[in-house]
Amino acid sequence: MRWAVLVGGTGSNLLAMLQADVPVSLVISHRREVPALAIAAHHKIVAHVLDAKAIRDRERYDEELRNLLTAHQIEAIAMAGYMRWLTEKTVKAYRGRVVNVHPSLLPAFPGLHAVDQAYRHGVRWTGVTIHFVDEGQDTGPIIMQMPVPIRPGESLESLEAKIHAAEHRLYPEIVWALERGWIHLSSGGEVLWDLSQKEVESWMHGLYSV
Ligand code: GRF
Repeated sequence: MRWAVLVGGTGSNLLAMLQADVPVSLVISHRREVPALAIAAHHKIVAHVLDAKAIRDRERYDEELRNLLTAHQIEAIAMAGYMRWLTEKTVKAYRGRVVNVHPSLLPAFPGLHAVDQAYRHGVRWTGVTIHFVDEGQDTGPIIMQMPVPIRPGESLESLEAKIHAAEHRLYPEIVWALERGWIHLSSGGEVLWDLSQKEVESWMHGLYSV
């Protein structure tokens, strides 16, 4: 499939995908001059900035976004540090083909600063969630999660580093699983695996053993 990665920040998940040979055909950033764009340039991936500050109207913004995706024949989308909610129209157009990474074990700690929220709350386990994107905010059907422990006395910086490492491990694997047609979203919003229980178990074993 032709993948677009939507970015807006440091681009470490984009880099993890490129290093895992995900067929990324397009990068779109909602912010100018972010490191993610330099990563795209370095890997010779076509990149566009759709400046959220320049196009304030959400519907118009997403119309431009869809035009770009169509022009580049994009079939699937991975959001990674893209700090905007997709409009209903965009979600409908790519339903079951747009995924996001969130740095907590959803439904706990949705929204901004999720790592910080979990840290301040004092939970002993947090983690990373990869989910299909729906019209809500971090509410889409969960595909897979990776738990990360918070050790007593651990610093926020250390936790952030562990969360990022978990993202970089999990996200490309899930994108590849989608690419291989192993994962589908049913019309009822259920995540379906096109693998036997045994195959899922062995795949997950490989995923969690570091
Ligand atoms: C990640 O922590 C992701 O969970 C969140 O935004 C961050 C993006 O990081 N949605 P990067 O730009 O991929 O380095």
